[in-house]
Amino acid sequence: MRLLFTNIKELLQVRETPIAFVSGKDMAVLPTIKNAYLLVEDDKIIDFGKMKNCPTNNITKTIDATGKIILPTWCDSHTHIVYSGNRESEFVDRINGMSYNAIANNGGGILNSAKKLQNTTEEALYKQSEQRLKEVILLGTGAIEIKSGYGLTVDSELKMLRIIKKLKTNYPIKIKATFLGAHALPAIFKNKKEKYLNLIINEMLPQIAKENLANYIDVFCETGYFSVEDTNLILEAGKKYNLTPKIHVNQFTSIGGVQCGVKHKALSVDHLEIMTSEDIEALKNTKTMPVALPGCSYFLNIPYTPARQIIDSGLPLALATDYNPGSSPSGNMNFVISSACIKMSMTPKEAINAATINGAYAMGLEKELGSITIGKTANFILTKPINSYSVLPYSFGTNLIESVYIQGKAIK
Ligand code: NIG
Ligand code: FE
Repeated sequence: MRLLFTNIKELLQVRETPIAFVSGKDMAVLPTIKNAYLLVEDDKIIDFGKMKNCPTNNITKTIDATGKIILPTWCDSHTHIVYSGNRESEFVDRINGMSYNAIANNGGGILNSAKKLQNTTEEALYKQSEQRLKEVILLGTGAIEIKSGYGLTVDSELKMLRIIKKLKTNYPIKIKATFLGAHALPAIFKNKKEKYLNLIINEMLPQIAKENLANYIDVFCETGYFSVEDTNLILEAGKKYNLTPKIHVNQFTSIGGVQCGVKHKALSVDHLEIMTSEDIEALKNTKTMPVALPGCSYFLNIPYTPARQIIDSGLPLALATDYNPGSSPSGNMNFVISSACIKMSMTPKEAINAATINGAYAMGLEKELGSITIGKTANFILTKPINSYSVLPYSFGTNLIESVYIQGKAIK
């Protein structure tokens, strides 16, 4: 099957030679071809270029993309889409003045979601999670990382990870699984943190490794959750099972999480709402991708990751949704791109780089996805007719996607 797109107004993120990620000033460079064609064979991109060189032979189907833009699908490298129910009552409590931390300290927050998840059957949880996955694919997401961390018992953490495995089998988008046992301390381990760490290290991890349920390991390294010392312990334990770290750091406080991530060669350090100059310095000349989650800043009314400072220091930056019931109940990468431009002063070019190639790197998928490159998987977005790609972040809240192609097939 050879599918040809013709008269594309602009083909974005065209990388003839593969790259791992873009950083610093290069983030402002988004290579494009105007008046382009794109040729797909089965699930792969096999050719692209200027319309004047468009192939005519051996084409199964041609789609005229006059006035429309094509770009790689979003790579959402940080989500928690396996969860049960919602936390809209906490949302109202926050509007009425309660803080996120006060809610968590009163038994709400992550522990509230854990209780709900523990009482939900695997089948029901799968259905809810599948619904969210379908929703984000239609919003242009073509690769996603999904974390555990709302189980907090051996059985429920395994239940979450088995659901992610099932989603991997049943859906055509690329999915990476992250074990986040150290998301919050369960109430029964209050004042017995060491015991919970032992449970993670001696019971959860070996079983997860045995069933091959995770690609990455995560810790919520934050004041009142898990310390740098705890994080060191867990990441060391994960290393024995070849689990690469991708960690939650600097959401509310800067306590050394970034440095800890760098020390353990984390693939990414995520959140980064509160960054000191030392934190930025620590990321220089490393392979650790900083990841910003503007949906969380928007929803919790907390500072946005200082994207300008990070990029202007020569570092890369990726963008992700953090889709979860407590701090970012949205998996809409289009909104994330808009917020990055509007609230973090990223240009549309920087935001698109951050949400495609850099997001792919933050999931170890930069060789397969994140750019229009020959040999890569044919996951891309075909927009409605639009004037320029800047209209995508500009028209926040408007869906400008006409169709999403995953492995060369239209989803919508
Ligand atoms: O990434 N910060 C830690 N974990 C999630 C939110 C957890 C929740 O409130 O349910 C996050 O923001
Ligand atoms: Fe998160």
